[in-house]
Amino acid sequence: MTIVIRNQKSTTPTQEISHSRKLLNKMVHNWSRRAQVVQAKSHNLDLNNPELAFDTTRDDFRSDLLPFKDHPAFLGAPFNIQQKILSCGWIAYNEKTVDIESKVVSPACNHIIYQEVPGVDNGVGRQIASDTLVDEAYHILLVMQACRITREQRGLQSLKLPSFNLVKQMILEQGKYSEPWQKILVQIATATVSEVFISDYLNLLAKDTDIQPMNRLVVDTHRKDEMAHHSIFTNLAQCIYTELSPQQQEFFADVFPLPVRWFANSELEVWQTMLEYIGFPKTREVIADCAVTDEVNLSRIDYSGVISLAEELGVLNSQQGIDSFARQGLLK
Ligand SMILES: [Fe+2]
Ligand SMILES: [Fe+2]
Repeated sequence: MTIVIRNQKSTTPTQEISHSRKLLNKMVHNWSRRAQVVQAKSHNLDLNNPELAFDTTRDDFRSDLLPFKDHPAFLGAPFNIQQKILSCGWIAYNEKTVDIESKVVSPACNHIIYQEVPGVDNGVGRQIASDTLVDEAYHILLVMQACRITREQRGLQSLKLPSFNLVKQMILEQGKYSEPWQKILVQIATATVSEVFISDYLNLLAKDTDIQPMNRLVVDTHRKDEMAHHSIFTNLAQCIYTELSPQQQEFFADVFPLPVRWFANSELEVWQTMLEYIGFPKTREVIADCAVTDEVNLSRIDYSGVISLAEELGVLNSQQGIDSFARQGLLK
């Protein structure tokens, strides 16, 4: 059964919408030139390339991205344990990326393709959602290849991670509402925030020439597509928000800031599983200390892009929007 969020407004498209539609139209035409999956044969991302051969002496990940990077138990751990923890960090980073692609962004694209979202239920909206689905499927392939190589090289083949907090929170939030349009808007809000954040999330590793060369190249290839996705999702959000009814706009204003906090979560359950798996002796102490000081730390992320988008959409023009962002600690 197709569920459609009904457009209860009869507004004429604003200038911003027509600008967003024009941009989306342009991006549809650019897809075959910019998509990394189309260029896969011509660029040098061949994981069998000897220049990308796994170098066991290199770190797989950056220590400053660990939630316990300054904890004395980590800093005092033997080198081989620190290196294994960094490999776990890389695997979790990739598997969280797969979760974002497959459980957050792809379902949002499918809602658009099935014409369940107003403002983007036209040819351009559906085409760009299809292009994005192909991009995300390619990213899953890339990161899973990188993950497999790391697991084999570091003896982490049987490590199995629990669900990531980001997805768990989104599903919990959707479960609070009975109307299908509410669940869809939670998905769209989470996908939009993810696509605004993901370039920054990838940037740090994409430019790090000290880590495993294969890892850097995989992240950089992904980043190139995500630069376009950032623009795609901000323009999709513009087209969608303007076409929502006042009730739906209020709902969107309420849920839009939530994924920012979900992103700021340190994913301690995942970390506990990984540290226990590798036999890190001070797992309980490290996780307990992080839970007190750093479980949700907004200072770890730059959410200015989400605030700017909320301003552009007009979410922050209403007291409801301001209150909703303030409740999540996002307004100073
Ligand atoms: Fe992606
Ligand atoms: Fe994306």
